[in-house]
Amino acid sequence: MEPSDVPVIAIDGPAGSGKSTVARRLAVRLGLDYLDTGAMYRAVAFAAIRQGLDPVDADPVAAMARQVELSVSDGVVVVDGTDASVEIRGPEVSRAVSVVAANAGVREELRTRQRVWAVEHRGGVIEGRDIGTVVFPDALLKVYLTADPEVRAARRAKEMTDLAYDTVAADIARRDAADQGRSESPLVEADDAVTVDTTGLGIEEVVELVAQMVERRQESMS
Ligand code: DC
Repeated sequence: MEPSDVPVIAIDGPAGSGKSTVARRLAVRLGLDYLDTGAMYRAVAFAAIRQGLDPVDADPVAAMARQVELSVSDGVVVVDGTDASVEIRGPEVSRAVSVVAANAGVREELRTRQRVWAVEHRGGVIEGRDIGTVVFPDALLKVYLTADPEVRAARRAKEMTDLAYDTVAADIARRDAADQGRSESPLVEADDAVTVDTTGLGIEEVVELVAQMVERRQESMS
């Protein structure tokens, strides 16, 4: 079976656009599994730091990414047998992840793993930055979530209670610039994506909106 044979709902967009919450709830609503690909990049950054690699050393980090055992499911991230669910969200990994995500060898490896995951799980709701553009160009539905930068920073600051709003806003601005400016699979909207601006919308409204889009798409294909 090919990745194009299974139903993939691609949810892309910048940090704080609501991707994770929306994607997780949408998966429950549609009876599909959910994959957080950002957690996979974070897990590779965590593994690099733990093994004493410099995240900017492209070849050693890519070689490590090909070897590392990763499992990402239900918010639990296990890296070579160690539960790293908390550490991957911390400041050290958040600082290192942009350079790891710009590494072509790392991206190639994680892309392959994401496609294998989709086939094994018979489709899913998959969130990231390049899911509709690069990893699953034949996705059943591609959604690009956006929100005003201040709203995105406020959402992230609420999740990370130990960090001040200004710190979070600066981190988001830095990562947006890195994600959009890199040459390898930059964050761009797919031509055939549906944009949803979540600035003034509640989570349930967004989930309902996207679920209806999926259902209409499925009906039009049957
Ligand atoms: O969604 P997040 O903030 O957990 O993502 C962590 C980093 O990984 C972020 O800087 C963007 C990058 N990323 C990526 O380049 N491609 C993806 N498919 C998912 C995340």
